[in-house]
Amino acid sequence: MHLIYLPQTAQQAQAVQQWFALNTDDYALVLEEQAETPTARELRKRPELCLIYDEQGLWLAANGMKMQPDWVGQLQRLYRAGIRNELLARACLISSTANIIDATAGLGHDALLLAWLGASVTMVERHPILAALLMDAKAQAIRFSDERLHHAVNRMTVVFAKSEAYLVDHAIHSAVDVVYLDPMFPKAATDKKQPLVKKEMQILQHLLSIPRHSDVDIDWGDALLPLAMNVAKRVVVKRPRLAEPLAGIEPAHRWLGDACRFDGYFQHHLSNDLIPVIDHE
Ligand SMILES: C[S@@+](CC[C@H](N)C(=O)[O-])C[C@H]1O[C@@H](n2cnc3c(N)ncnc32)[C@H](O)[C@@H]1O
Repeated sequence: MHLIYLPQTAQQAQAVQQWFALNTDDYALVLEEQAETPTARELRKRPELCLIYDEQGLWLAANGMKMQPDWVGQLQRLYRAGIRNELLARACLISSTANIIDATAGLGHDALLLAWLGASVTMVERHPILAALLMDAKAQAIRFSDERLHHAVNRMTVVFAKSEAYLVDHAIHSAVDVVYLDPMFPKAATDKKQPLVKKEMQILQHLLSIPRHSDVDIDWGDALLPLAMNVAKRVVVKRPRLAEPLAGIEPAHRWLGDACRFDGYFQHHLSNDLIPVIDHE
């Protein structure tokens, strides 16, 4: 896969290439210097996946479009966000001491909201391209001049791993208040009326549908739920409004939103007493 970079971003591009070489066999990056960021028209001529490093950081391009986790673009929403008006925050019952594992990090938008509202969030992502995009999104957010954003991203850690292994190996050694899961879902399970999918979601769906040799099969995250329930007193799962519950396990509580719902699972026997079980709606 090609990594296109500008002369002024050569160092960052080399660092990304090195990270891929050290961390995954799935992609060997070939560096390609260009004087300017490829235009949309140029990208349409090369529909295959490629990475771009320009002054705005690392991008993934495919099918003539490019995208990156848009953390700075979330600021408008974040400044309006509160524990009461964000369903995800209500479901996770955020406090300033909450320790959350986002076991399906994706573009990190949900994790950023949780961290913005005070939680410490470990974002676990198994796809190397998404893990690299997340690490760079964090670096870009730190460069952006917004003190509250800096505080939030300093509470966010990116881990490139499969969450199955991470939940078993690491989480049991540290106190985890919430595990949050937002796995991809099969198309047939989604609500019939789907809003137009945003460009970044289109590229994400395209990326995740390409098999890598480290993939055994497409999995829809069912195995994560019982593992998460072993680790945290509260597990929150994002689902399409009408979809079956993850792994067919009925939640103890549902928070219903306009576009999706959050299913809550509570493990009363786990020893972490920080979190009461249901919030007041
Ligand atoms: C729907 S996206 C999550 C979107 C995310 N909530 C956000 O706000 O951007 C699901 C992500 O979970 C990742 N994922 C799925 N199963 C995983 C697993 N077992 N371990 C780690 N990451 C996983 C996928 O690679 C994908 O990036």
